[in-house]
Amino acid sequence: MAQTIEVGELRKRYGDVRAVDGVTFGVDEGEFFGILGPNGAGKTTTLEIIEGLREADGGEVSVLGMRPWPRNPKLLPRIGVQLQASSFFERLTAREQLRTFGSLYGVPARRADTMLETVGLTDKADVRVEQLSGGQAQRLSIACALVHDPELVFLDEPTAALDPQARRNLWDVLKKINTEGRTIVLTTHYMDEAEILCDRVAIMDAGRVLRLGPPATLVRGLDAPSRISVASGVLALDAARALPGADEAADDGVSLTISTRDPSAVVAAMAAEDALDGVQIRGATLEDVFLDLTGREYRA
Ligand SMILES: Nc1ncnc2c1ncn2[C@@H]1O[C@H](COP(=O)(O)OP(=O)(O)O)[C@@H](O)[C@H]1O
Ligand SMILES: [Mg+2]
Repeated sequence: MAQTIEVGELRKRYGDVRAVDGVTFGVDEGEFFGILGPNGAGKTTTLEIIEGLREADGGEVSVLGMRPWPRNPKLLPRIGVQLQASSFFERLTAREQLRTFGSLYGVPARRADTMLETVGLTDKADVRVEQLSGGQAQRLSIACALVHDPELVFLDEPTAALDPQARRNLWDVLKKINTEGRTIVLTTHYMDEAEILCDRVAIMDAGRVLRLGPPATLVRGLDAPSRISVASGVLALDAARALPGADEAADDGVSLTISTRDPSAVVAAMAAEDALDGVQIRGATLEDVFLDLTGREYRA
């Protein structure tokens, strides 16, 4: 069976910049797929080509078995594209906003209230969009993208610039709409977001896909150390470096962090010294995958 999205050897240049430089991946029906990378990686350009908003210079794209370019009217009712929160109609309430978008697709007016409930904005139905918080406006923009009940939804950095609580609320909304059976393609520069939400993630940098797979598989494929941290001062830095199994240790004045490939040995030795105050143990993350692939720290 054909995949929901198939992208092959996609290319797009802007002058000398190879924004998308031979990108290939597929997205399965019902999947939550992430495109992860720092600013300028080529995420938005890739997404806009798939959405049919931009023409590729080369390569193949198929969306729900159709070509998105030139603009394909058969595709539009089946896909939802999240608008920037700033592109709402002015001075309309949240409900009016949704009814207006819905009317473009011939959707009954009552669908607006269903969507407000889906994104947790029922109590904001009569509030004008200018008065919504950043997180509420993002949720409304997602509701607008879903108002015509598309089977495939595109979200371009939906949680950028939100505070941590608003991001978590939005994650719950996104998980819910995926659980309802929709395929989601999301771009993000947040590693934690990709790890939490995505079934599979394509890590992009400089127009290329560096790695593709489920986040846990990418992380386990690394021979990356675990990090054990305790409150600063619990153990002297020299003593920490000398612990059996410790590879490195660093103390930033708040935490003492020890890298190790033998966490049992380190924790046992620290326990013997009664030096486990405030202990935290972390395994590798997608950030380590990026570092391993590019030799650079991940700075979004
Ligand atoms: N319309 C454009 N004109 C010229 N350069 C562009 C344009 N859009 C994006 N770029 C460049 O293409 C590269 C990829 O951009 P983009 O796809 O927006 O990346 P991302 O979404 O990952 O931040 C960047 O170097 C960016 O500066
Ligand atoms: Mg972008």
